[in-house]
Amino acid sequence: MANSLPPVRWREQLLQWTAPPPEDADSAPSSADGWRQHADRFRAVNQVMRGREEPFIRFLSPWLSPDISVIDVGAGGGRFTAPLAERARAVVAVEPSAGMREVLAEAVAGRSNVRIVPRPWPNALADVQPADLVVSANVAYDVPDLAPFIQALDQAARHFAALFLTLTHPVGAMAPLWRQFRGWTVPSGPTYLDAAAVAFHLGLPVNVTLVPVQPTLVFPDWDAALALYRHRLGLRPDAQRDVELQAALAPMMAEEAERLVVRPRERHAAVIWWEKG
Ligand SMILES: C[S@@+](CC[C@H](N)C(=O)[O-])C[C@H]1O[C@@H](n2cnc3c(N)ncnc32)[C@H](O)[C@@H]1O
Repeated sequence: MANSLPPVRWREQLLQWTAPPPEDADSAPSSADGWRQHADRFRAVNQVMRGREEPFIRFLSPWLSPDISVIDVGAGGGRFTAPLAERARAVVAVEPSAGMREVLAEAVAGRSNVRIVPRPWPNALADVQPADLVVSANVAYDVPDLAPFIQALDQAARHFAALFLTLTHPVGAMAPLWRQFRGWTVPSGPTYLDAAAVAFHLGLPVNVTLVPVQPTLVFPDWDAALALYRHRLGLRPDAQRDVELQAALAPMMAEEAERLVVRPRERHAAVIWWEKG
């Protein structure tokens, strides 16, 4: 793998991220829409971030103006779509998950300048007009075939394109918990540098800028925190193990204003960006 091309290296590393199945996998409802189960979390993120400027939006500021058009690929619950729609003339939000589109629709309710395209990228390229600015935030680690995905971002962008992503795979934010509770050691790659290498391999004039990460995961109490982490780790409820889980989570949590705030494991996220012509 060390000598393989960047798109192959990205794909091979990404495909190693197979978490152990939930302990009660047989009773778990299966859904074709894998992102629906995360929709409430993204709804909560929108609430936490309301009124706060996202560092990624601050980074984009020099390219934003009221007369430009934007495409937000993998818009999710609209965390970036909504603030982009405030600063641009028109935004196309590409989002294939029906569950996430429900949150997205709430986030942009009342805005007439957002159009939602319910298809995956790069297929959705056929449904959009080129835009001045094309962004895709927190999607790359979901995309094994990153080269055609990035190439389509470039094709759709008239002036500027950017991928925003965590430095390492987001599932790895719980690496010590995976090891302790499920015996799974998470892979060490790919990282944002592998994604930048794919863009570079495509001949794009890539830049990489790191921006600060803000805490987005907040719980009203320990019961809510334990419920989410139990679910994410695929653990069956168990009183004794919950005590161990709370002890393992405690160093990651800050107790502020009667709520628990999860401290981000990484202090920065990456913006991989390039300008056209
Ligand atoms: C982690 S969420 C990020 C959402 C939002 N951009 C954010 O940063 O909060 C990833 C989203 O990407 C979407 N997604 C996954 N693969 C995609 C693809 N090939 N094309 C477009 N969206 C995709 C998922 O449905 C999900 O809503």
